[in-house]
Amino acid sequence: MDLIADHISHCFGALEVLDDVSFTVRAGEVVAIVGPSGCGKSTLLSILGGLLQSSAGQAELRGAPPAGSLNPLTFVFQDFALLPWSTVEANVEFPLLHTPLSAAECRAQVDDALRRTGLTDFRATYPKQLSGGMRQRVGIARALAVRPAILLMDEPLSALDSQTRELLMEDFIRLLADGAMGAVYVTHNLEEAVRLADRIVVLSRRPGRVREVVTMPMTRSERGSAEWRGKLLAVQNDLWSLIRNEAIDAEREVQDA
Ligand SMILES: Nc1ncnc2c1ncn2[C@@H]1O[C@H](COP(=O)(O)OP(=O)(O)OP(=O)(O)O)[C@@H](O)[C@H]1O
Ligand SMILES: [Mg+2]
Repeated sequence: MDLIADHISHCFGALEVLDDVSFTVRAGEVVAIVGPSGCGKSTLLSILGGLLQSSAGQAELRGAPPAGSLNPLTFVFQDFALLPWSTVEANVEFPLLHTPLSAAECRAQVDDALRRTGLTDFRATYPKQLSGGMRQRVGIARALAVRPAILLMDEPLSALDSQTRELLMEDFIRLLADGAMGAVYVTHNLEEAVRLADRIVVLSRRPGRVREVVTMPMTRSERGSAEWRGKLLAVQNDLWSLIRNEAIDAEREVQDA
């Protein structure tokens, strides 16, 4: 199943936020969206996920959803958005509650999501008993439970310390390895973008326009090797030089506001 951003523009009142943004996320592909603060990345993700109606253009899903998918587009939130009064298991089960699944099917999907995120032993735990990294794993397990075609992630690691970020990034690489699921990954962090993405959409300052779409020159599994580390850093540096000046301007704008 492909997700197409088709000439998307958006305004909040007089504020022009996105201008004619087009790109395609092909089945199983990971597309990162980077760009200066306030350029419209989160707005774009909300439009792609159907939470917000764009002022012009549209987001479109094309092709059949994967077998058993209850929700082809599923969000993973920066702040995890867990139910504090529910156990890990109940949080993961939550999106399955009002679906046609039988109790046994529901249990099987929850078990599978918990296993894939290493949470099986924590199923009876409450979110407040968990570290930030484990909480985000619950957020990811809950997203996996509905068997999405494409995960929509808005800075999913930015609330976490750097070591936890690294561990979760390795989790993402594992989860996305078989190409069964794609992702749109919004991040400020260029290292995350070059580690995870197949393609990187670089947006300009607000109103966000597509400045460039960078295709990563190696597969995700190759990126861990020492041989490719230098190459990865070179791509990251190229991206930074693309957005550096605009990031400086965006930063000033925020401070002046
Ligand atoms: N609901 C809203 N109403 C009015 N303005 C909004 C709304 N949501 C976002 N904005 C404005 O739209 C612009 C783009 O916001 P958005 O959150 O999409 O940017 P972003 O690229 O995700 O920023 P950041 O990098 O800081 O997360 C900002 O100027 C923001 O203040
Ligand atoms: Mg944002």
